[in-house]
Amino acid sequence: MLKILVCVSGGGTNLQAVIDAIRENRITNAQIIRVISNNRNAYALERARAAGIDALSVSPKEYADREAFHEAFLRAVEEKEPDLIVLAGFLVVLPEELIRRYRNRIINIHPSLIPSFCGKGFYGIRVHEKVLERGVKITGATVHFVDEGTDTGPIILQQAVTVEDDDTPEILQKRVMEQAEWKILPKAIDDIANGRITIMDGKVRRSR
Ligand code: GAR
Repeated sequence: MLKILVCVSGGGTNLQAVIDAIRENRITNAQIIRVISNNRNAYALERARAAGIDALSVSPKEYADREAFHEAFLRAVEEKEPDLIVLAGFLVVLPEELIRRYRNRIINIHPSLIPSFCGKGFYGIRVHEKVLERGVKITGATVHFVDEGTDTGPIILQQAVTVEDDDTPEILQKRVMEQAEWKILPKAIDDIANGRITIMDGKVRRSR
């Protein structure tokens, strides 16, 4: 059974999609053993608690400096010995130590087709604002492994979504979530939990 720790910052709709997929057996061989937020008021924490999942906040605001925050964050992760860490709308840069220790065991959902509209400064609604500013006709979402860069790790799954002429950032964000994010994040977790994912030469291979 794959032990999953989920990191969240906000509303937690992707977390909810994973909780629902486990409940409905669309993800098998996996359980969420802890949810951590950097934001103590994140609605995602309420979603976790409502599902009976251990949930806590580790906020940079509660520590003297970055180093103390990183230590506390690492402790909150390691005491649960997760097999997989899922960043589901987690908007804090991870401690490098954590990335080293959990190489190829951290995944992230990003609301665009990487390598478009990603990297520093591209997160949440801003991604969709930039997509509309540029006028691209297709966007989407990507699930990828996390390495030391920003949105640079091996890509696991992507799903394209059409941009409509009269979209607002909010409308587009909702469509990308519904048609892409809430589908490919649970799917990627199920693939990992069932041994279908390998990494070769920095690229993901998926067996059936
Ligand atoms: C999601 O759209 C996710 O892709 C994005 O934040 C949102 C969180 O929503 N993540 C990033 O932009 C990471 N660079 P949620 O809390 O409702 O799941």
